Amino acid sequence: MALDLSDVDLLTESVHTRRLLLRPFCAEDAAAVHQACQDEEIQRWVVAVPSPYTLDDARHFVTVLAWRERRAGTGMQFAAVDLESGGVVASVGLMNLTGSIGAEIGYWVAPWARGLGYAAEATGALCGWAFGHGVHRVALLIAPANAASCRTAERAGFRREGVLREAEVDRQGQPHDWVLYGRLSTDEPPPDIQPR
Ligand SMILES: CC(C)(COP(=O)(O)OP(=O)(O)OC[C@H]1O[C@@H](n2cnc3c(N)ncnc32)[C@H](O)[C@@H]1OP(=O)(O)O)[C@@H](O)C(=O)NCCC(=O)NCCS
Repeated sequence: MALDLSDVDLLTESVHTRRLLLRPFCAEDAAAVHQACQDEEIQRWVVAVPSPYTLDDARHFVTVLAWRERRAGTGMQFAAVDLESGGVVASVGLMNLTGSIGAEIGYWVAPWARGLGYAAEATGALCGWAFGHGVHRVALLIAPANAASCRTAERAGFRREGVLREAEVDRQGQPHDWVLYGRLSTDEPPPDIQPR
């Protein structure tokens, strides 16, 4: 089966999970993104997030950067909104849909919304969306010391496949390893991810 987006408009596509709506970013999300990205864990592990992170960076992200893959037809960035409160609690992306290591997922959860398993829930839903549209393989690249993200990958049904040695450069210009996690459309799905 090959990628088939014939019934999808990537500019509007949203995905529902049990507790979250994953929808396109909009200008009104800038304040929440700005606040979340002050967090030192996001600053540490997501090198694409500028440091320091200004409100202008957040505005640029929600109106330009987050739309690039949707406009190019290669993926989607989502604002994850908690269905109960209506607030933005995370950013998740499904990128590079035809990438050689598989479609890639990336995420951060706002510090005020952690500990609830939102990243695994959103990742599981994005895998379901991708497999339903003909993607055979989804990948996650995670720094080996990022224990919360490695655990998130496992909870979402990914297998640890190997280490890409010195494949990334950190903010200080030092190379570091990636752990490659993968999940195939033919893999056994993970047990239902229960809210905590
Ligand atoms: C990784 C991240 C998205 C997970 O957020 P979350 O969905 O709220 O995750 P939770 O806090 O519910 O934790 C998920 C799992 O990791 C475990 N975990 C959390 N923090 C941990 C830590 N510091 N060390 C070890 N395990 C940890 C939890 O116990 C849980 O495991 P369980 O399912 O066995 O109970 C969040 O920590 C984050 O935004 N980090 C900064 C940005 C980042 O690292 N992005 C990913 C880059 S690859």
